[in-house]
Amino acid sequence: MRGLSRGMPSLERPRIMTVAVLALGAHPTPAGTEIQLQRDEQKLRSYYAEAPEDISLDDVDLNRIPSHVSLIMDGNGRWAKSRGMARSEGHVAGVDSLREAVTTSVRLGVDVLSAYAFSTENWRRPQEEVNLLMHLFATTLVNELPLFYQENVRLRFLGDIESLPKETYEVFRYGLDETAHHDGMTFALAVNYGSRAELVRAARLVAEDVAKGTLSLDDLSPDDISDRLYTQGLPDPELLIRTSGELRLSNYLLWQLAYTEMYVTDVLWPDFTRWEYLRAIRSFQHRGRRFGGVVES
Ligand code: FPP
Repeated sequence: MRGLSRGMPSLERPRIMTVAVLALGAHPTPAGTEIQLQRDEQKLRSYYAEAPEDISLDDVDLNRIPSHVSLIMDGNGRWAKSRGMARSEGHVAGVDSLREAVTTSVRLGVDVLSAYAFSTENWRRPQEEVNLLMHLFATTLVNELPLFYQENVRLRFLGDIESLPKETYEVFRYGLDETAHHDGMTFALAVNYGSRAELVRAARLVAEDVAKGTLSLDDLSPDDISDRLYTQGLPDPELLIRTSGELRLSNYLLWQLAYTEMYVTDVLWPDFTRWEYLRAIRSFQHRGRRFGGVVES
């Protein structure tokens, strides 16, 4: 069910929420469950049954699914405003879209899904909205842990999460520990993330290693930078999807998106469904990717 099915989280509950997380205990993959690394095509077909007129699963090549899809989830506020609702209700509705994007990515066999949830600039929003978002991130993580167990999803965070409110940080740490052994899709959530801050951090780490003598400035390579970014070890995104029609990167993964194909849709994030996701992949597959070279005809 989409929309406000889970109700509005109370802002006064972070402590209770943390206790609830700790009470969840460990949820190992059930004994005897075979970890399914291969895409289950039958499951995928039924997931994509009842296609709208303009798109179906047959429009995409399942052998050329992008390995890393990244999302700029934009338009929650406008979605809410257009319905006479509070902005916060747009964010709550956006959680449903994110859950569907995670499930869709797993079904399609995407290796890494990343999503921009909160930027280093988003602290400038009204305090009440910031509080709501911090609380929503934590409650969502708790609510979605069963999905991560079931789908063998490993969680990662991009950004300075240690500077987040204590309750949010603790829940994030719990999610990291709980899913660390999962070896299915990686879901990387960017929270308190800014690309310029990430690059400054990488420069600082390079300088420290050069000072220690463990890195030679003469031999510095792009990999040395990549290895010091929050995305260390992840492939660069092949496809970036941005909702709500804005044509900018908003300080997101500036280094990692160097050769990424972009797909911008006017659809607002709470309206983003598995079908819009499929349209993005169809568009991606129709592009000729040259990485600065030429394609032989
Ligand atoms: C943009 O909408 C979206 C965000 C600020 C990110 C927050 C995303 C969610 C709450 C979706 C669920 C995510 C998690 C991790 C629980 P906007 O406020 O910028 O919309 P506007 O541009 O229309 O004002």
